[in-house]
Amino acid sequence: MAQERESIHGQWSSRMAFILAATGSAVGLGNIWKFPYITGVNGGGAFVLVYLLCIAAIGIPIMIAEIMMGRRGRRSPINTLRYLAEEAGRHRGWQVMGWLGIVVGFLILSYYSVIAGWALAYVLRAMEGAFSGQSPEAVAGLFGQLVSTPELLLLWHTLFMVMTMWIVARGVRSGLEQAVRYMMPALFVLLLLLVGYAMNTGYFQQGLAFLFTPDFSKITPNGVLMAMGHSFFTLSLGMGAILVYGSYMPKGASIVKTTLVIALADTSVALLAGMAIFPIVFSYGLEPGAGPGLVFKTLPIAFGQMPGGALFGTFFFVLLVLAAWTSSISIAEPVVAWLVESHGLTRRHAAWWVGGGAWLLGIGSVLSFNLWSSEPYLLFGKTFFDLLDYLTSNILLPAGGLLVAIFAGWIMRRESVREELGLKDALLFRIWRFLVRFVAPVAVLFIFLHATEIIKFE
Ligand code: TRP
Repeated sequence: MAQERESIHGQWSSRMAFILAATGSAVGLGNIWKFPYITGVNGGGAFVLVYLLCIAAIGIPIMIAEIMMGRRGRRSPINTLRYLAEEAGRHRGWQVMGWLGIVVGFLILSYYSVIAGWALAYVLRAMEGAFSGQSPEAVAGLFGQLVSTPELLLLWHTLFMVMTMWIVARGVRSGLEQAVRYMMPALFVLLLLLVGYAMNTGYFQQGLAFLFTPDFSKITPNGVLMAMGHSFFTLSLGMGAILVYGSYMPKGASIVKTTLVIALADTSVALLAGMAIFPIVFSYGLEPGAGPGLVFKTLPIAFGQMPGGALFGTFFFVLLVLAAWTSSISIAEPVVAWLVESHGLTRRHAAWWVGGGAWLLGIGSVLSFNLWSSEPYLLFGKTFFDLLDYLTSNILLPAGGLLVAIFAGWIMRRESVREELGLKDALLFRIWRFLVRFVAPVAVLFIFLHATEIIKFE
């Protein structure tokens, strides 16, 4: 038996608390903002199918691996990796994986906060009743107005970053558990109501067909890469966020069952968001491939027309902000935990340094939608925001996930892994190990190789 290790940052109070926190991390802008917009850009059904396959064959096995590694190491990613490598009698150099994660988390946090800022701005607008009775053009115009005003974006980005760091500074346990417990079910119910609205647009069938009828002529190697990248992004994998949350997980809770619950909740929220949005897109003759503004240009039309829409819309955007909040906290946690562990900073100081840095970098994303939205401010034809998002989701997260799979499948000792997972069912363990050793790494590499035209940033 290995010695019992404990995290110096405390532990979740129960398995349920872990599920809530990890679901809070997974469910966020990725589900409601990003999934519908990249599905639209990539032509629908075939993209969704590839995304679902990636969740099942790559995302779930890697999530199990990350949680398992975190719980065994009980430290921030860098120190966990060093400990686990030593435990397995391997080179400490594996800790570079942790470094990669810290850099990636920092990059993601910087733009995540900018988009979450949009959601904050929309809370206010919904409260004012800005959407009531507006035409689709006017609603799109409101979005255009927001993103073309850098001062406003900066204001909301700042507010969101402060909110995030305020919680991270207090430690992820206090507050987070309670917030997620009530917020997740509420978000779910609201999405169901929106799907109900979409059913009455007369275009529900068309929306469903767009999402669920695969047309493989529409998907490109780049689309496959984006689907895979998004399966990492949406499950918070590949940079140590789930690993850190796993390091606060109580011993004895089932990692496999927990992972399945989280993945199911995450996927359902994304699909519901799609089912609410696309019927609205078709019923107003809008463009499914409208890009990052899609959610903000469609749902407000519905809020503007339904009775009680101002209240409903306010509630929706508040929940979207909360979902983004519980996610951004988890993006910051690995870096902050590491600064506390290895550099003796207090949690508060660490949080404010990380937040300050990510806030500064976020200004690049703020400007990507206005002053820097066209030449000569593009790199490889992409804005700063697009480039960061592309690089992190589609290349760095899958690369991090690949390393996790290799580490859990090939570097750690089989017995340590088996013990930590506590899987009594030998068959289940074998299946997981096969997925992590062979299927996930091969799939990631295969998709990388077939998408080389994108590596050149075509
Ligand atoms: N999964 C979150 C979302 O869908 C975002 C997120 C949280 C994340 N933690 C992460 C993405 C870690 C990548 C890595 O919005």
